[in-house]
Amino acid sequence: MRNNALKIGNIELCSRAVFAPMAGYSDLGARYLARLYGAGLTTSEMVSAKGLIYDNKETKKLLDKTEIETPFAAQLFAHEPEILHKAVGLLPDGIDIIDINMGCPAPKIVKNGEGSALLKDPALAGELVAAAVSASARPVTVKMRLGFENGDFVADKVARVVEKAGASAVTVHGRYREQMYSGQVDKKAIRAVRDAVGIPLIANGDVRSVKDYERMLEETHADGVMIGRGALGNYRIFADISGKRVDRTEKEDILLQIEFLKREYPERIVVNLMKSHVSAYASGKAGVAKEIRDRVHHATNYAELLAIVDEYFAN
Ligand SMILES: Cc1cc2nc3c(=O)[nH]c(=O)nc-3n(C[C@H](O)[C@H](O)[C@H](O)COP(=O)(O)O)c2cc1C
Repeated sequence: MRNNALKIGNIELCSRAVFAPMAGYSDLGARYLARLYGAGLTTSEMVSAKGLIYDNKETKKLLDKTEIETPFAAQLFAHEPEILHKAVGLLPDGIDIIDINMGCPAPKIVKNGEGSALLKDPALAGELVAAAVSASARPVTVKMRLGFENGDFVADKVARVVEKAGASAVTVHGRYREQMYSGQVDKKAIRAVRDAVGIPLIANGDVRSVKDYERMLEETHADGVMIGRGALGNYRIFADISGKRVDRTEKEDILLQIEFLKREYPERIVVNLMKSHVSAYASGKAGVAKEIRDRVHHATNYAELLAIVDEYFAN
């Protein structure tokens, strides 16, 4: 395990544990809590470079951040270097790092040659990084998987190409695209990527406890660890890792998430987004988890949502 702090370009993070970008989950409220509890970095949900160029309002909204999110990374997806170059030039102030998505397994992204499809074309992956680097003075990072088809390990090669193109760090989710989210994370393969490049490497996949975090650092020799699903409804995992003390109840956290979402969205969307978040908090409640999930699933307005929060989460 490396003892120096995690530094991306010239930006030093306060913790080696960072919060993962997750479409539909890593919204402002979730990221605020991750950061409050001690995550070293938060990242936007994946944002379409084309959407930015077309000035799409909903796309731009995804780049709004909270007042405590510094440093903050914007994650973009694209397959055309010139589009990415333009989109990076349009990014608002307040974005410190640009991350390029080379890991998304969703068919609608892959069929456009974006996300994990880029693992099949390392040269294009390099051109995309070079295009982003030439458009901005901010550090550019890449988030990828081990490869596309099961067992076809290419992340070491892609990492070398993007490092050469100017990337300041890589994050590796230790699964292949074909696996989606099934099977085990291959830590040995993540370590092979670590050994292939000189830039910082952030290891990702299935970290749900401080013990998992420590094991990930130890077995991969990574410089940092990205935590996604294991932090949902459990943002205090970052406090447990960093030793930061934060005195808050789960109920306060849930209400805060609702307030942040209200700033951005109408009631119907806030309630829908909160269904997933409240279900994540419910996972920690043995005996009533299913009941909470079933009830929140049927909530249609704030009054119903808040009644469920009041009933199951103590002040
Ligand atoms: C619902 C969901 C949405 C996700 N959205 C994104 C995304 O927008 N960008 C990205 O790079 N990864 C995305 N991911 C992948 C996560 O960032 C992460 O790599 C993956 O969940 C493995 O880490 P974990 O086991 O800690 O969750 C998403 C994952 C999930 C479950």
